[in-house]
Amino acid sequence: GIMSSLMGFPQKEKRLSKLLGIDHVLIVSGNSDQQPQVLHRLGQLLNSTLSMLLPDGRNVIAAMGGTTMAAVAQELTPVLSKDRQLLFVPARGGVGERVDIQANAICSQMAQNTGGEHRSLYVPENVSEQTYEPLLKEPSIKPVLDLIASANVVVHSIGGAMTMASRRHMPTEVVTKLQQDHAVAEAFGYFFDEDGQVVYKIPRIGLQILDLTEIPYVFAIAAGANKAKAVQAYMHNAPHQTWFITDEAAANSLLKGA
Ligand code: F6P
Repeated sequence: GIMSSLMGFPQKEKRLSKLLGIDHVLIVSGNSDQQPQVLHRLGQLLNSTLSMLLPDGRNVIAAMGGTTMAAVAQELTPVLSKDRQLLFVPARGGVGERVDIQANAICSQMAQNTGGEHRSLYVPENVSEQTYEPLLKEPSIKPVLDLIASANVVVHSIGGAMTMASRRHMPTEVVTKLQQDHAVAEAFGYFFDEDGQVVYKIPRIGLQILDLTEIPYVFAIAAGANKAKAVQAYMHNAPHQTWFITDEAAANSLLKGA
């Protein structure tokens, strides 16, 4: 009815936050699996929530990549820059995905739409530890890593493990291991099984999952009934201060599975 569309879904949001063990859940109507515009609604909701929550002054916002994040980035507006200086940084190094959904591109779009600034992280794919160890000290990389470490806001998504493994063209032996270990979710380059155990981690530089506990504003954005399983698995690891922004289809599916 009209009230529920004006008020959101307060009861469902409450039940879901309890189920997932996090402080905040926000639900938009629809199912993003069928209606791509739903992803844009998630972005609008992020925009209004950030505008309400973020402190005045400087904010360093670490963002991840993906199609959800790309849609969300389009919905951020200059209202966020009122009394604030925003600096967007990619939360992790590149992950071998399409350029337009890489974190660098998302950050640039977010900066452009809000009137903020952004920095890029240029780290090559699939390099050995010996190769990227010295890279961490490079003048073009070190300052960005320091910024990531100073972020007070993180915005990320969650994906299905196998979807992400193939999108990133991960080696066959890794895919086999993920299957054997029943990986169902991916976030920040970490793969999780149903119980939230980390079964594999892409050796990447940047934000690590443990860092999240120290970050005051963490936004996890994922929608569509297809993502329910991945969300459920990831949330075992989510810090309690997480804001989960999702759609009704994912929310219903999560609550039904409970
Ligand atoms: O690769 C970046 C990333 O944010 C992953 O961590 C996440 O699993 C995925 O993208 C989500 O992608 P999408 O929004 O396209 O489902």
